[in-house]
Amino acid sequence: MMITMTDSSVSRVAVVTGGSAGIGAAAAEALAHDGWHVVVAARRLDKLTAVAERIGGTAVELDVTDQASVDSFAAGLDRVDLLVNNAGGARGLEPLAEADLEKWQWMYDTNVLGTVRVTRALLPRLRESGEGLIINIGSKAALDPYLGGSGYNAAKFGLKALTRVTRLEEIDAAAGVRVTEIDPGRVATDFSLMRFDGDEARARAVYEGKENLVAEDIAEAIRWVASLPPRVNIDSMNIMPRDQG
Ligand SMILES: NC(=O)c1ccc[n+]([C@@H]2O[C@H](COP(=O)([O-])OP(=O)(O)OC[C@H]3O[C@@H](n4cnc5c(N)ncnc54)[C@H](OP(=O)(O)O)[C@@H]3O)[C@@H](O)[C@H]2O)c1
Repeated sequence: MMITMTDSSVSRVAVVTGGSAGIGAAAAEALAHDGWHVVVAARRLDKLTAVAERIGGTAVELDVTDQASVDSFAAGLDRVDLLVNNAGGARGLEPLAEADLEKWQWMYDTNVLGTVRVTRALLPRLRESGEGLIINIGSKAALDPYLGGSGYNAAKFGLKALTRVTRLEEIDAAAGVRVTEIDPGRVATDFSLMRFDGDEARARAVYEGKENLVAEDIAEAIRWVASLPPRVNIDSMNIMPRDQG
């Protein structure tokens, strides 16, 4: 797969990591609707392919925790105008005294270093765009610590620091890239199923009786940020369900 600038059928190219499900799949659909050619990237190729077929995009297998996978992904792209760093999630909700450090490592490696790997690999293409934009999907967990959240809080607070530094660095870069962080509150996706290792009853209880956001609500914000003129940088957006403080 090679997305080339000379292909007249391709206008602007967006990469959405974690495009196989949830917020990423919804964002891919919204962007495609606005005329972007969307490259959806994640580990589950069957789900990615279904999304790509639905939106007329391109599915590429990618593990953001694996440098070789990121390198070969980047080598297949010669144009990128928008990067949505969405791949991520939480594992566990234990207090620090019972923390499973393997879960903490997964959260840091996926949410923080995964974003670093993909951003670093695609930054040359984003700068060449002249209108490049990076949207990092953070979380309310990057704003407010909560009980049992310390591993995920630490990862998403880390991602917020990374987002801000990338933004500062790009201010002075030639053809600097715009950088945005979108921090959602509770969105009904497979997020909690992943957090609780597939425990469906526990995952369902997170959303029951509440006014949850849906993935399309966050996709709409991503679509809007990406639709603005290149002079505009939205630094951050916090998006909560009405009943979440
Ligand atoms: N749902 C919420 O309440 C909520 C709130 C705030 C922030 N967020 C953030 O929103 C983002 C998307 O989550 P979601 O709610 O849409 O959950 P989701 O449905 O579980 O989606 C997570 C996505 O990340 C991908 N992913 C995980 N590890 C990956 C890896 N190593 N390499 C590539 N892709 C990987 C998954 O794809 P594969 O499994 O196919 O690789 C999947 O597409 C995450 O960063 C999450 O932290 C979610």
